[in-house]
Parts: sequence; structure tokens; C-alpha cells
Amino acid sequence: MVRTMSEDATPQPKHQGLIVVIDGPAGAGKSTVARRVAGALKLPVLDTGAIYRTVALAGDRAGVGWGDGEGLAALAATMPLGFVAATVAISGRQEVWLGEEEVTDAIRTPHISDGASRVSSLPPVREALLGLQRKLGKSGCVGEGRDLGTVVFPDADHKFFLTASTPVRAQRRHRELLARGGDVPSEAQVLAAMQERDARDSGREVAPLARAEDAREVDSTGATIDEVVAQILQHVDGS
Ligand code: DC
Repeated sequence: MVRTMSEDATPQPKHQGLIVVIDGPAGAGKSTVARRVAGALKLPVLDTGAIYRTVALAGDRAGVGWGDGEGLAALAATMPLGFVAATVAISGRQEVWLGEEEVTDAIRTPHISDGASRVSSLPPVREALLGLQRKLGKSGCVGEGRDLGTVVFPDADHKFFLTASTPVRAQRRHRELLARGGDVPSEAQVLAAMQERDARDSGREVAPLARAEDAREVDSTGATIDEVVAQILQHVDGS
């Protein structure tokens, strides 16, 4: 029987380890904050955006279009995805592998950002990746994404929704791209692409970007990473 997303959103059997989820739009600082929080709590990071990005890349490589939900779902179900957890602690960067190829940087280009947003709006793709995300995170993790508090781990121990103003998010993403080098779009182009992606991520029918009712909202607009991390750890430790 094919399960629907709404059935999958019902509470799952209690997970085994501590699960902290950080959802929010692109550029709010989720990745950096999640890594720091995970380091402090000695938990692995579960970067679910990287999973959608890898599906987009795998689709590109295999000639499966970003609109082909069934084709991408089949690819997602079998793609040899590997996360190297230990690298986060050493370098602050988590290696992502697709079979024999390290794709850590290849999945961060503007082209693949666009593809990830497109493939993640397709219900068969989300369904194909749900079990994988739960399996990867259930022993304990700091998960980051868009629907972790609402769909993937509705019974997470701690839920946060990280936001920042759109211009600040675009500025941060632009700096990240500059630091990575290569052909970098202008900040205005990054802002326009981000607004398009935000609209698609929030407007899709299945598991849109949304704050879970029981998630604590943290606005990182005028805050440093240290302040945001401290705020989150304070809630986790104090509960
Ligand atoms: O966080 P990110 O920018 O790496 O995510 C890439 C895309 O994947 C983004 O457009 C939204 C999508 N995504 C999602 O739909 N659900 C998640 N849990 C994580 C990411």
C-alpha cells in the first residue's frame, strides 16, 4: 500500500535518541547553527537539504528531469548516498558522497539549489525520502530542513524555527557563494532566486516550509551565530 504524506505525518513510535530539529528558510543560518549545536550536544547533523540537493544532482547526471516525480523517486530510493559525519567535527563541513564521488561542493551551486527546490516540491520524491531521513536521524541528531518539525520528526524533543529578514538571508548566501569561488551571481540575483525558492518551498502542497505549532521561533537577523547557538542550547539544556 502506498502511504500518503498525511498518514506519514502522524506521530511515529518514539525515537531512540535526542532529536533537535531546526527548520527555516534558506540563508537563515540553519547549517552553521545546526553544526554548532550538534557539536555541543555531541550528536550527528542531519542535513536534509543536502539529501534533496543530491537527488537533483543525481537526476541531472542520469538524465531524469527535475519534473519527473516517479523517475526521481526511483532514483532517490536507490541512490548510494553517504554522509561522513566525522568530518563535521574536524572541518565544520560535512562530506556528502554519491557512490564513489564526493559531491559536497557540487550540490551547492546555484543550478543545483534551483533543482533541489524543484525536486523537493514533488510528492513522490518527498515520500521516497521520508523513511531515509527517519532512519538516518532516529538514533539522535540535530536535523535541519523545512519540514522536520512538522512531518519527518513530529515528536522531536526540541523544535526550532530559524528566520532572518530576506535581504540579510540573501547577503549571507551571497557571501557563502563568494567564499566558495567560481562564477558567483550578484547579490541582487541571489535575492531574486531566493525569493522564488521561498515562494516555491512555502507554497507547495506537500510538507511546505512552515513553523510547527510547538516550534520556538528564533530570529537571527541582528544576532551573531554565537548568540543564536547559545539561545538554542539554553532551551535544550533548560528543559
Ligand atoms: O536547506 P537547503 O537550501 O540545502 O535545501 C535545498 C532545497 O531542499 C530547498 O529549496 C528546500 C528543499 N528542502 C525541503 O523541501 N525539505 C527539507 N526538509 C529540506 C530541504
